[in-house]
Amino acid sequence: MPLCSEPAPICRRPRACARRWRVPGSGVALALAAALLAAGLPARADALEEVPYVQTPQPVVDAILELAGTGPGDRLVDLGSGDGRIVITAARRFGTPGLGVEIDPSLVTLAQERAAEAGVAKLARFVAQDLFDPALDAELTAASVLTLYLLPDVNLALRPRLLATLAPGSRIVSHDWDMGDWRPERSITVPAPHKPVGLRQESTLHLWVVPARVAGAWTLRIAGPEARSLPIVMRQCFQDLGVALADPGAGRAAEAPATGGHGNVRPAPQEHARADAGRGALRGRAISFTLILDGHRLRFEGMERDGAMKGSVVVDGRARGWQAQRSAPGESRESCPAQPGSGAATAAPARTAD
Ligand SMILES: C[S@@+](CC[C@H](N)C(=O)[O-])C[C@H]1O[C@@H](n2cnc3c(N)ncnc32)[C@H](O)[C@@H]1O
Repeated sequence: MPLCSEPAPICRRPRACARRWRVPGSGVALALAAALLAAGLPARADALEEVPYVQTPQPVVDAILELAGTGPGDRLVDLGSGDGRIVITAARRFGTPGLGVEIDPSLVTLAQERAAEAGVAKLARFVAQDLFDPALDAELTAASVLTLYLLPDVNLALRPRLLATLAPGSRIVSHDWDMGDWRPERSITVPAPHKPVGLRQESTLHLWVVPARVAGAWTLRIAGPEARSLPIVMRQCFQDLGVALADPGAGRAAEAPATGGHGNVRPAPQEHARADAGRGALRGRAISFTLILDGHRLRFEGMERDGAMKGSVVVDGRARGWQAQRSAPGESRESCPAQPGSGAATAAPARTAD
């Protein structure tokens, strides 16, 4: 198995390699306790920083950038940038400015040399820094594309920070590892020739789009001759929404079928009983949801911006404008209802590399 017994540069740091590195698709979990013993090192539970250096094959780098829809208007950050290949490729192919964050200074030097050789030293910057350093938050806030080739537990440890710092609409692509119950928008498997880990020469790439924060109470106003104003409540599980009339009598509503997304947000039990709940989805700031009012199933499409929302809805065959003002914030956008009896979130987990 070509893992931590590999010579440099596949695995430069013995402690980093003394980890359980699960290889996607292999079905084999490699517990490298033997390597720990051989190195005379204590086993560490908190090995979050010890992500080994494994290069992404160049065709997979290209696929990552394409999946993210990377362009010249983006700003890219690669957390754990290795020899800089993702940042350098984005600069070379698309003119995208980027930052590679790498804990190993020798890899930062190598990346800077490679960027200079490629003629993109001004666009492709590299810093020797721990990716968990909060001083990087400003760079994350400015980023529109974030790339990761880390480990599952590192992705999960990063997740709340990414949701808090990245702007809505930012794209995250992770090589091989998912984000637990945050369902990706898209996952693809691509050929990975000369991949130094795994039995299959292929990689899985996951794409997420950071959703706007819309959880809470809103006043929804529909324009037109039959203008009306309705208090609604939005519950949010990442990009999935549950939408309910705060006053069920206001819409004489019946339960709406799931729309968009995969319906991972379930109405709370009392909302089921009132049968006034709808569902919806976010893609960045773009929002769509369904409510049933006066027996009519209405599909709202719109955008969130600066804590307000507006868009259009078809009522009696005519397009009407709608807007919504927040009246009270709700739970965070990571708040996912538990499945009955399981204690788990309803969002289906993405395929986790095994
Ligand atoms: C799997 S490699 C990926 C390299 C590169 N992104 C690629 O795809 O080819 C992970 C990289 O993360 C770096 N790394 C590990 N822990 C880190 C940390 N706490 N902060 C910054 N970089 C880290 C490693 O040194 C390694 O170069």
